[in-house]
Amino acid sequence: MKPFIIAASILSADFTRLGGQIAEAESAGVDWIHVDVMDGHFVPNLTMGPFIVEACRRATKLPIDVHLMVEQPETLMEAFIRAGASHLTVHVETCPDIVGTLKKIRAGGCKAGVTSIPSTPVGKLEPALPLADIVLVMTVNPGYSGQAFMGETLLKVAQVRERLDALGSSARLEVDGGISTQTIPGLREAGADAYVSASAVFKNPGGILAGVRSLRSALEA
Ligand code: DX5
Ligand code: ZN
Repeated sequence: MKPFIIAASILSADFTRLGGQIAEAESAGVDWIHVDVMDGHFVPNLTMGPFIVEACRRATKLPIDVHLMVEQPETLMEAFIRAGASHLTVHVETCPDIVGTLKKIRAGGCKAGVTSIPSTPVGKLEPALPLADIVLVMTVNPGYSGQAFMGETLLKVAQVRERLDALGSSARLEVDGGISTQTIPGLREAGADAYVSASAVFKNPGGILAGVRSLRSALEA
C-alpha cells in the first residue's frame, strides 16, 4: 500500500480542457482524481453531477474519488456508481442510517467513505468507522476551493487516527481543504495518509507538475 495518496480535486481545474488537465495531473503522479459534488442545499455552491464523473472516467484509469456534498445522497449514489466512480464518500450529517448507506455503496462495487463538516464531533463518525474504506476529515467548511486550512481540525485528524488504529482498520484517513506544503507536516504528524488538493495542484503558478512535485516532497520529507 502506498504510504501517501495525493488526490487532485478538479474543482480548480480549467474546465475548457478538463481531459488535458486530468492527463497532466496523472503524469505528474497524482493517485486519485477527486470530484466535489455540491447541490446548492447541503452547501451553498452548485457543481458537478454524474456527467462529469463519466467524462473523467474516459479521461483516466486512476480511481475517481467522489465527495458527495448533497442532501439525501442515497437518491444519487447509483447514478454516480454507474458513471464510473471508484469511491463514494458521504457526509454523516446527510445520512440518518450511515451504516446502511456505506453497505449500499460497497454493494455497488465502490469503496465507501464517510466524512463530516469540521463542527461535527468525532463521535458521530464512530458507528461508521468499522465499515469505512475511507474516513475523510474536512479541514475547511465544505463549499469552495481556495479556503484557508482550519488548524483546529488537526485534533480531529489525530482522534480519527487513534480510533482507526484501535480498530485495526486499514481505512485511508483523507484530509480535504487548504492542503499545501505548509499544512502537510502537521497533518502527516496527526496521521493523515490521503491528501486532497485543488488549488495547490491546478492553481500552482509553476503549473500542475510543479504543484504535485512540491506536495509529494512535503509528504516524503
Ligand atoms: C471543498 C472541497 C475540496 C476543495 C479543496 O468543499 O471538498 O475538495 O476542492 O480545495 P483546496 O485544495 O483549494 O482547498
Ligand atoms: Zn472534496
